[in-house]
Amino acid sequence: MSRNILDIEFVRKQFPVFQNPKTADFAFFENAGGTYVPKHVIEKLNDFMITKKVQPYGDFGPSIEAGNEMDNSLEKIAELLNISKNEFIIGPSTTMNMFLLSNAIKDWLKTDDEIIVTNQDHEANIGSWRKLAEKGINIKEWKFNPKSAELEVEDLKNLITKRTKFICVCHTSNVVASINNLKEIISIAHSHDIKVVGDGVAYMAHDIIDLKELDIDFYGFSLYKTYGPHLALLYGKKELLDQTKNLNHEFLASEIPYTMNPGGPNHEELACLSGVTDYYETLYSHHFTEQGLNLHEKGKKVFELIYNHEETLIKTLIEFLKLKKNVRLIGKTSHSRSERMPTVSFTVKDKSSLEIAKAAGKNQIGIRNGEFYAWRCLKGLGIEPNDGVVRVSMVHYNNIEEVNRLIDFLDTIL
Ligand SMILES: Cc1ncc(COP(=O)(O)O)c(C=O)c1O
Repeated sequence: MSRNILDIEFVRKQFPVFQNPKTADFAFFENAGGTYVPKHVIEKLNDFMITKKVQPYGDFGPSIEAGNEMDNSLEKIAELLNISKNEFIIGPSTTMNMFLLSNAIKDWLKTDDEIIVTNQDHEANIGSWRKLAEKGINIKEWKFNPKSAELEVEDLKNLITKRTKFICVCHTSNVVASINNLKEIISIAHSHDIKVVGDGVAYMAHDIIDLKELDIDFYGFSLYKTYGPHLALLYGKKELLDQTKNLNHEFLASEIPYTMNPGGPNHEELACLSGVTDYYETLYSHHFTEQGLNLHEKGKKVFELIYNHEETLIKTLIEFLKLKKNVRLIGKTSHSRSERMPTVSFTVKDKSSLEIAKAAGKNQIGIRNGEFYAWRCLKGLGIEPNDGVVRVSMVHYNNIEEVNRLIDFLDTIL
């Protein structure tokens, strides 16, 4: 019989950090900065470093095995996302991948063409596009409503002209945390022959999406924020990637991923990336009995359970913060997971966010303050970026006991 509730004890058993006496009692709420990794990833990394740490794709044992492990990761991650191996690159970070993308497409643009960026995004999906102003590209800013912190589609429509070529927008902001309606944005964009570049970094730890069905042109997210090693993935539609400029050596001018990814991904990290899909498979087999599903389908089912668990965590924290008169909650006060991710940012009247984060640290609670590289977002909210907001970012391995510990701590200082 299948389980319809996430077995949180089982989940935590997959993460060595929760078994280690040094770290087990630490309540970690800075997951939007980078998540913990399950044992599947660690074991694969360890094994690679011991038995296969040689140049891959040669003709001798360890080199063949190293290449096979790396290819296995590429195949698994492609199956998870329902995409093909020649539709994505794996680079060191989303920031770097967006730089590569903006350089690879810049010959598509003519002087006075327009790119729309938002002021809600992390700088990774803004900065590299803004740099194209040096080439005579007109950069327009889609500003969020300062009252709600939401991006409003009517404002986007007013920015679009015949010269608009790209809209660069986050799926979820790493500060505001509400879910932007990418489907609607893409449909508007495509009706004007505009390409959409989505930043899924703050989204992908919480869901598995079908990029093909979404019909997005480019979509990036960081694998180290989705239970994997410090790598990032950038997807692009094949027909678009085929038109990008080769950024690599002349003799590698034939195909993706080589053309857009000089240097290629870190070998040992790529090899252990399949540990993430192994982890999802482990969760699937523990909770479900149905056989014959592919990785994407299994992942979707696992994340349905995660969705409900995350909603309980958000509800508990938001209901508490809403009662505090001196707290300014950023973004939606809804606790519905259909509207927001389990990241909650706030400021406290007459209290420094840094002091709150430091005091939490002394109580074995990991939260953080600042602008999280979304400094335009903080400015738009009228919040001084240095001290910034206090951010609590949860994922499915957080349990309700940890949230209650956080609430007890916050209660003493609010
Ligand atoms: C929403 C969002 N986009 C982009 C990034 C940048 O990711 P990376 O560190 O992989 O460059 C971050 C990092 O925090 C983020 O939260």
